[in-house]
Amino acid sequence: MGIAHGQLYRNTFRELPSQRGGSFAMEFFNPRIIYLFLGIVIIWKLYQRKDHVIDRIISTVLYPLRNEHGQNIKGPRWKYSDGQCLDKFLRGREASLEWRQYGPVYRICVITRPDDVKIFHSDSPSHLKSKSSNGGWLFHELLGDCMGLINGDRWEQVRAQFKHHFIHRSVSSISSHIELAATGYLQSLERQDAESFEVHAASDFSRFPFMTTAEYLYGPLTENEKEELWNLGQQSLALMGNVLSGGVYRFGLCQWMRPHSFRRLRSFQNQWQNFNQRLVNSRALSNNHQPPIVEAWMAMEKGCISMNEILQTLSEMLFANLDVSTHVLSWLIIFLAEDIDIQQQVRAEISANPGSLAELCGRKDTLLQFCFLESARLRPFTIFTIPESSPRTKIIGGYIIPSHTSVVVDTLAINYNQKFWGNDHSRFNPHRFQHLSSTELRYNLFTFGFGTRRCLGQHFAEAMLKHFVYHLLNRYEIDLPRLDAKKTWSSQPIQDTWVPIANARVILKPRK
Ligand code: HEM
Repeated sequence: MGIAHGQLYRNTFRELPSQRGGSFAMEFFNPRIIYLFLGIVIIWKLYQRKDHVIDRIISTVLYPLRNEHGQNIKGPRWKYSDGQCLDKFLRGREASLEWRQYGPVYRICVITRPDDVKIFHSDSPSHLKSKSSNGGWLFHELLGDCMGLINGDRWEQVRAQFKHHFIHRSVSSISSHIELAATGYLQSLERQDAESFEVHAASDFSRFPFMTTAEYLYGPLTENEKEELWNLGQQSLALMGNVLSGGVYRFGLCQWMRPHSFRRLRSFQNQWQNFNQRLVNSRALSNNHQPPIVEAWMAMEKGCISMNEILQTLSEMLFANLDVSTHVLSWLIIFLAEDIDIQQQVRAEISANPGSLAELCGRKDTLLQFCFLESARLRPFTIFTIPESSPRTKIIGGYIIPSHTSVVVDTLAINYNQKFWGNDHSRFNPHRFQHLSSTELRYNLFTFGFGTRRCLGQHFAEAMLKHFVYHLLNRYEIDLPRLDAKKTWSSQPIQDTWVPIANARVILKPRK
């Protein structure tokens, strides 16, 4: 037993590499292997702490932002793979409150005070939008060349093709069309003989602003054209869902890593181009008044703007705006449903102004207008504005913001600013606008944007939403279902959209 054990020991021992002239120890301690091993450990450690490392590189080497004492600006740590780009949309409200702990100006770079917005926008005409809003590859494919995201001469050319259709005078002249669209839409919702009925504040009303904008751009649409357009919108929104999932969709690599999504993208782009080409052909031949699309298409054919610019600008006006207009309209209706008193006061205002609806909806001093502003104040459609940069260095909140730094405004901080809006800043009180001038509101209220790149469709959107609410209130008493009465405030928005859409229902009761 003892011998056998000794032999086994010797045999085993003989197998060990160290017995082969100490080669095991030599191989093990070979410097190349040690370096390789250390390299792997370091890379692994760096990978685990990649957010921290990239954050340090960005904040100290690439884009240092310091105050006059050389102190670095604070802010949330950069997050893989897009920094805070998606957080700004997907959890804007929470992020706004959470990030304000870093001070009134903090790195992404966010500004939160009206005076700082004024300083930043003092040279607004020379500002530049960041390329595709820093949204990555897929976002660029969908909207990178739209009017709202391009700069300089390109922007001026594209805006010039559309702007005269959206000035106050042009919009007033189509008031009767908008009115017809609003009454027709409300009729289509009506349930025969029902004492009252419930509708979803967002999904049941969303087709109204969408189709009204579409019929302004393309002229009257057939039912088939409307369905085709709606379907294209759903495809575009689904692709936007991919953008919002971030990760690989931020890079051109997604063409190979997500071939299915890539095929859907190309299919959508082809269908979208065909749809527009077909509609332009049919409208151009008609002797009737030619809608804005025909003129813009001709400018494209003459080479003033590119095919992508026109297609993506139409996409911006229709598909990207679907959630925006739905959000603004549905919150206005929810606030009115919750405040029966204000509802009655608006009805009284309507009865006291039996004259032209165009005139009433065009005025900026009506209770209807104040309700619109108050609702937009409490529920801005985006919590963080689209990034833009100034070509000049700015001192904001004591920090030196170098030229060409992308800056965004926290709209919630502005619209709920207690110093300006008072202690009841979170209450729906449209009358507060009665004594506020447009100059006072300029940097204290976010609705259609600050500075030169304000919304092109502002007058149109206001007219459309006010006409709709006018007819809604004329036709129905609106209320919230009992269970939802307070829950609406806290109810979770629908979260797969880039604008958080209200998830609430309202009751419509036909007026006697
Ligand atoms: C209530 C609904 C709407 C709201 C709250 C709204 C809001 C805004 C805001 C805040 C901007 C500026 C974004 C920035 O900071 O750059 C903007 C830009 C724009 N909006 Fe609207 N919008 C609405 C409806 C519409 C409609 C119906 C149209 C359709 C024509 C439209 C077309 C545009 C365009 C083309 C731009 C880009 C303007 C430019 O950069 O020159 N919007 N919108």
